[in-house]
Amino acid sequence: MLNTTLTKLIAAYCDEMIAFRRDLHQHPELPFEEVRTTQRIVQQLKQIGIDYRLTEPTGVIAEIKGAKPGKTVLLRADIDALPVMELNDKIDYQSTISGKMHACGHDTHTAMLLTAAKALYQIRDQLTGNVRLVFQPAEEIAQGANAMIAQGVMIGVDNVFGMHIWSKMRSHQLACVVGPTFASADLLKVTFKGQGGHGSMPHDTVDAAMVASAFVMNVQAIVSREIDPLEPAVVTIGKMVVGTRFNVIAENAVLEGTVRCFNLEVRNKLEAAIERYAQQVAAMYRATAKVEYTYGTLPLVNESQSALLAQSIIQQAFGEEALHAERPTTGAEDFSYYLEHAPGAFALVGSGNPAKDTQWAHHHGCFNVDEDSLTRGAELYAQYAFAYLQQNQF
Ligand code: NI
Repeated sequence: MLNTTLTKLIAAYCDEMIAFRRDLHQHPELPFEEVRTTQRIVQQLKQIGIDYRLTEPTGVIAEIKGAKPGKTVLLRADIDALPVMELNDKIDYQSTISGKMHACGHDTHTAMLLTAAKALYQIRDQLTGNVRLVFQPAEEIAQGANAMIAQGVMIGVDNVFGMHIWSKMRSHQLACVVGPTFASADLLKVTFKGQGGHGSMPHDTVDAAMVASAFVMNVQAIVSREIDPLEPAVVTIGKMVVGTRFNVIAENAVLEGTVRCFNLEVRNKLEAAIERYAQQVAAMYRATAKVEYTYGTLPLVNESQSALLAQSIIQQAFGEEALHAERPTTGAEDFSYYLEHAPGAFALVGSGNPAKDTQWAHHHGCFNVDEDSLTRGAELYAQYAFAYLQQNQF
């Protein structure tokens, strides 16, 4: 099932892929500011000869039309960087912009997808159908995918495939599990209103600090007492702003947090329970509560046929032992929005290698990848598109 020409081409493009990735690494751009990155992608597409269109405000959609008509498979790479200070001092391609860094590896995704595109374009005579290439901005703020979808990227698409380089997995391992892979990630803000006053006379006040504290302690009971123990869920209050001075009883408390799970029914339960806890805790102390619950990314759930296709490619291309059964992560990925419109799958490409000091967590200033992983990622992109179109001819 593997296309051996693709394998050879990608191996031949390896050096230029790494050089391109390093160039992006030196010039990181934050979400929706990926102007230079977009220009660099366009330069490459023009050089190869692939038709493209720009999206607003940044990003590119390109398409390789096969010789014979068929389905359309979408390959997606995200292109944005983070407001993180790079701490890698042993490489000669550090970020040139202080306080900005490709600390999640999206530079590698961009380079891998362009390389896969170049190889697929060379064998377009063998393609039955089309390969749509999506260079998506603003994944880190979970807005890029929806921006691309609003601009028509999913029109006519039959299947979607994406990947993330993954430092938690060793650089010879790849994963694409059937079912949940990333969690939903919602934003929670709770405002409690009490009545301030002198710290010496609590009976004349309604202490918002007391209400907020009770809420933080109680809200964890939702996960432990109301959600099925076989369904993972996280409620985290990460920020609490309350009070002004040691002897002043706080009038207001503002709490912010994140809610994660893998199942929309669980998400609805969590949302309703958080509202109830906030209202009831506030009432217990004579305060009032306002809950603002904002939906973030959806759970990313791999469709089984697509995930199994990716698994079989991983095994054929890199050996049985390369296929890793990585557990789902409570991290989030806005690739989930594409999966609302078409079946597909999202793979993880291991890049951790202690010998090369690339085992650091994503978003850390020391994050880097074992660049040997790039060839594997590019190969997986290209072979997935080819195999999907082969399997799904009209
Ligand atoms: Ni990322």
